[in-house]
Order: sequence, then structure tokens, then C-alpha cells
Amino acid sequence: VWGGGCCDGLICGRAVYLRKKSPAGGVAAAAFSIDMYDISNYKIKPEPVILGLESSCDETACAVIKGRRLLSNCIISSAAEQAKYGGVVPEIASRAHTEAVEEVTSRAIAEAGIALSDIDAVAVTYGAGLLGALLVGLSFAKGLAYALNVPLIAVNHIRGHLAAAYLDDPSLKPPFITLLASGGHTAILKTTSFTRFEVLARTLDDAAGEAFDKCARVLGLPYPGGPHVQRAAEGGSPSIDFPSAQVRHSSSLAFSYSGLKTAVINYCHNLAQKGREVNVADVAASFQRAAIEPLVENTVRLAVQSGITTVTAGGGVIANGYLRSRLSEECKKAGLKLVLPAVKFCTDNAAMIASEGLNKYMTGDFAPLSVNATAHIPL
Ligand code: KG4
Ligand code: ZN
Repeated sequence: VWGGGCCDGLICGRAVYLRKKSPAGGVAAAAFSIDMYDISNYKIKPEPVILGLESSCDETACAVIKGRRLLSNCIISSAAEQAKYGGVVPEIASRAHTEAVEEVTSRAIAEAGIALSDIDAVAVTYGAGLLGALLVGLSFAKGLAYALNVPLIAVNHIRGHLAAAYLDDPSLKPPFITLLASGGHTAILKTTSFTRFEVLARTLDDAAGEAFDKCARVLGLPYPGGPHVQRAAEGGSPSIDFPSAQVRHSSSLAFSYSGLKTAVINYCHNLAQKGREVNVADVAASFQRAAIEPLVENTVRLAVQSGITTVTAGGGVIANGYLRSRLSEECKKAGLKLVLPAVKFCTDNAAMIASEGLNKYMTGDFAPLSVNATAHIPL
């Protein structure tokens, strides 16, 4: 059972062990009251060392940054194990996180070339995501922050995706327009300060990543679907006229992926009923074009309309090669500066959590040790 209490006790014990260098001392210290934790006199530093932890889905990740400079970025993934079941099994993810969290943290600290005592704050994803999975990272982070007596920063995973752009361009400053496309969200946002954004457009139903995963499934491609659809599309032609993800007759530039998804499923089932073979490459290429063109078009249109000349992007779907080249082309044509995070910062990682952690750190936005994990956080 992965309840906050039991997991807290265990992991807190381990973290205190790191400080006390004795298992018995660690467990005993963990049994004491958390009143020993006191950051009321903590002074904000200009270039803090922040350790970030991410465990919201199937990646256990830890990264260390100093100011905006990335010192290490480590991931242990259970995706190969999950692929056997065609998607993420929450219980398998939670167990994999408990096995990996200590190792990935030790690796990130070693690769960063820092000592535990150099860490100025611990940033961790508290939501949105799988509750059991989140609790592992959150509990470990609480233990570490407690043991080091440094601030704990609770990061919204989606805001982490938005903060990935700062890793690629440390000089990046708001305002900018961001295309967010992940497994759970699809939206265009206007970031007005390091801690504020507003939603300009969003999907009315499924997220783009979800549509990629469903398209992959109907084509018989493995989980996670996005990269496999992209690879299949490279050998195909976008010759099938699937409905675009752009909502027509709407002034709000909203997206809808459920019609596109259904069209792909119906197309494949119709051919199967007639005993005809599906051209996987052509379906993938046609789906990809219908899914991505509206994202690119609306992002550029909203940037031009709002007079904001910098565009960024974040989320797993931004790893898509077709999207990356189309967004680059269209931003260039429109005279917009594009900050496109490296592929490794688009899919889930802890560097982006540390990066968003820094935004919150600078405003002293710290979390109490009682902070809980949250499965859903509205945009
Ligand atoms: O941001 P992310 O790693 O996790 C969430 O926070 O949801 O996004 C995962 C989504 C999955 O749906 C996956 O299929 C999609 O991102 N994805 C891609 C690509 N790589 C990952 N979609 C299209 N093309 C890709 N190359
Ligand atoms: Zn994500």
C-alpha cells in the first residue's frame, strides 16, 4: 500500500540516513517530529543549486541545475515494461519508481559533481499524474528537503513542460507564446511573467498525444504511440483526407482530436471489413498532418495577433520531427523567434521540473512538508 504516511516514513528515514550516515540514526530521526524542519530564516540565493524530481508517469527522473545551468539530467524509465500492456499500468509504475528513485537521485548528484550539502532546494512534481507514482517522488523529495533543511518546491508537471524552454535559452524572458502538446494537454498559452500565463486556445476533447497513442494502437504500433507514428509517417504520403484537428466555424481557434481519432479508426475498420490491407505509412502521414498543421498555424496566428515575437513549445508531442520542422518554417516566415526545447526536454524529464522550481524559488513560493499529491490540476 502506497499511502503518504508509510512511504514518507520509509523514505524520510533514508534521507535522514544520508545526513546522519547511520541507518539506526536515520530511522530514529525520521520518527521524531517534523518540527525539526525550519526554513523560516532561509535566504533566497541568486544562483541556487536545485535538485528536481519527476515521477508522475513512467519516468523516474532526477536533475540538478545551478541557476539556469543544467548540471545533470538522469532518467530511469519503465516504458519498456509498460509497453507489454499497451499503456501505463499505475501499480507497475509506482513500484518501478520505488526501485529507481534512490538510484536516479544518486546518479544525478554524482554527475552534477556536487555534494548533498550543496543543494539549496528540492523541486518535485506534486501533480498532475498517477497518484501512486507521484507519491513516491514527492515523499522522497520531502525526506531529502527535511534531511537537508532546505525548501521544498511543489511543481505542477504542466508548468514544468512550459519551463523546458528556459533550459535551451537561459536568457529567455516573458512575454512569449507557448504551444503545449502532451499526452494530457493541448493548448496555446501566453506567458506574461515567470509565474503567470493565460490560455489562448485549447482542445475541446482529447489531447494531441492521446490521439497519437490511439492512432498507433489502431495501426498495431507499440506504446508509446507518438514516436512510432512519426517513424511510420516518414515512409508514407499524406494522401488520405482525414478531418483536421482545427475546430471549424469557431472564432476561438480551439482544437478537437476526437473526430480525427474516430475517422482514423473508422477508415482502418472499413478496410479490414472489406478484407483490404491498411497502408500504415500513409495513414500515419495523413493523421500526422491533420493533427499537427492546426497546432502550427494557430500558434503562429496567435503570436502575430498578440504582437508577441517569441514562441516556445513544450510537452511530449513537441518531440515530433514533423511538428518541429513545420513550426520552425512558419515562425521563420512570420519573423518570430522560436525557442524549441531539445527533444530530451520535451518528453518527461526532471530538468524541466528543476527549471520551473527555479521560477518558484525566486518568489519564495515554497511548499509545506504536508503538501499532498494531486491527480488532476486544471490548466
Ligand atoms: O509530455 P509527455 O511526455 O507526458 C505527458 O505529460 O503527457 O507526453 C507524452 C505524449 C504521448 O502521448 C506520446 O505518444 C507523445 O507525447 N509523443 C509524441 C512523440 N514523442 C512522444 N507524439 C508525437 N511524436 C513524437 N515523436
Ligand atoms: Zn509530461
